[in-house]
Amino acid sequence: MDVDLIPAPRELRTGGSGRVRLGPGTRLAAGPGTEGVAHWLRATLGAATGLPLAEGDGPLRIELGIDPDLPPEGYRLDTGEHPVRLAGGSAAGVFRGAQTLRQLLGPDAFRRAPVRPGRDWELPPVTVEDAPRFRWRGLMLDVARHFMPKDGVLRCLDLMAAHKLNVFHFHLTDDQGWRVEITRYPKLTETGSWRSRTKFGHRASPLWDDKPHGGFYTQDDIREIVAYAAERHITVVPEIDVPGHSQAAVAAYPELGNTDVVDTAALGVWDTWGISPNVLAPTENTLRFYEGVFEELLDLFPSEFIHVGGDECPKEQWRRSATAKARMEDLGLADEDELQSWFIAHFAGWLAARGRRLIGWDEILEGGLAPGAAVSSWRGYQGGIAAARAGHDVVMCPEQHVYLDHRQDGGADEPVPIGFVRTLEDVYRFEPVPPELTEAEAGRVLGTQANVWTEVMESPARVDYQTFPRLAAFAEVAWSALPAPAERDFAGFERRMTGHYARLDALGVAYRPPAGPRPWQRRPGVLGRPIDGPPPDK
Ligand code: ACM
Repeated sequence: MDVDLIPAPRELRTGGSGRVRLGPGTRLAAGPGTEGVAHWLRATLGAATGLPLAEGDGPLRIELGIDPDLPPEGYRLDTGEHPVRLAGGSAAGVFRGAQTLRQLLGPDAFRRAPVRPGRDWELPPVTVEDAPRFRWRGLMLDVARHFMPKDGVLRCLDLMAAHKLNVFHFHLTDDQGWRVEITRYPKLTETGSWRSRTKFGHRASPLWDDKPHGGFYTQDDIREIVAYAAERHITVVPEIDVPGHSQAAVAAYPELGNTDVVDTAALGVWDTWGISPNVLAPTENTLRFYEGVFEELLDLFPSEFIHVGGDECPKEQWRRSATAKARMEDLGLADEDELQSWFIAHFAGWLAARGRRLIGWDEILEGGLAPGAAVSSWRGYQGGIAAARAGHDVVMCPEQHVYLDHRQDGGADEPVPIGFVRTLEDVYRFEPVPPELTEAEAGRVLGTQANVWTEVMESPARVDYQTFPRLAAFAEVAWSALPAPAERDFAGFERRMTGHYARLDALGVAYRPPAGPRPWQRRPGVLGRPIDGPPPDK
């Protein structure tokens, strides 16, 4: 049995020749504070192995405990003899260690039911001491462009957990759809969650999928998702976009738009890709409306951070709007960029007054940012560098490196999504902390996240294809203490991936195989528009 852990742990010592066996009599002894992890292990490993893993002591047992001397998400796992010991700095650390324990049992531990009932289960004798490099190890999923039904979101959380990721950035609204029930504004989902047709492929594609697309999560769905994530020690950070990427909201409530410039009552939910010019009007009515949205959101999501978007807000309608002009005069603002900044500052203050923190895409730096607000640096490293230097926390997610909608290979068989080639190796060599930051500035980098934008991902299988195997490389970047990019052992990572593909197979993940897409994963290149290379770092 190879020990091919992904993400790689800080320290792995193998030793001894004996293997610890797990069988029907193996007990699971949960120390104080680890009951939730025991529950997860019993449900997950219990299902895969068919073993009851009953609570209690016995000569053959797995012991879970908290060791406050370990880092909060760190753990130590010892499988040399019975009892198998797993200790974490907190329940989260024990849970991360439980992922390692599962990997050590082999790929069949990733199934939902035993495939060879009665088989032996054994652990290789190892000691693992491990802790994450970053406290924010995120995945963003865009459920606005293509809706992911709730079970798909829960599965996504399981896949994140298996890779020791801990922040799910839930992109809930955009021009093409509003996906969360807001009880006081029912039309956001009645109208805003459906579009009549969908562009198939890149926006330059001539093809349409001429059927309605949509869906949304009820507030109970959201509570279930948040609770399911919490059981896996994953924080869900919701994103509601303001003031751009808002056409679905304007289609539902036309008074939110720039009614003196366009007939917003005639707008539908957007059916193509790109950046809609139909942005929110900078009025008191809009602010009050969105405060209402965020009030309901705060009840649903306990996260410290609330993401407000803030990216790609075209100012054209504001330039033409007498209402916007009057607003700028009232507020003493010099231009439309300051209006955008005022909009974001309003919600930064509003969230801070409620004990939360605003996070937004790096455009929110333009015009100054409220203290305590944080930045998702997406247009490159530069936004993150500027934010860190200005004393803001940063999540590094530069599109040049970790936008998983970009194609994984230049081959003709590759389904052509948006943009340039980002291979598994490119992602493996991504470094979240740019060398120009001082140590103190680097301390502002909370971590990193991979972003899955779904314009060209019309099905969950396509999301799998774009996300895996690159998310495994990303997880190692976010968790493991890797050396500088050029010194990383990609060949070693690929060797470990051999075992990891077997786990992904057992989990039913439709990843891109190393040899290229399977026939059913191919898609005619005419639908995409590859570009030569990544955009410049802004
Ligand atoms: C973004 O990709 N517009 C954040």
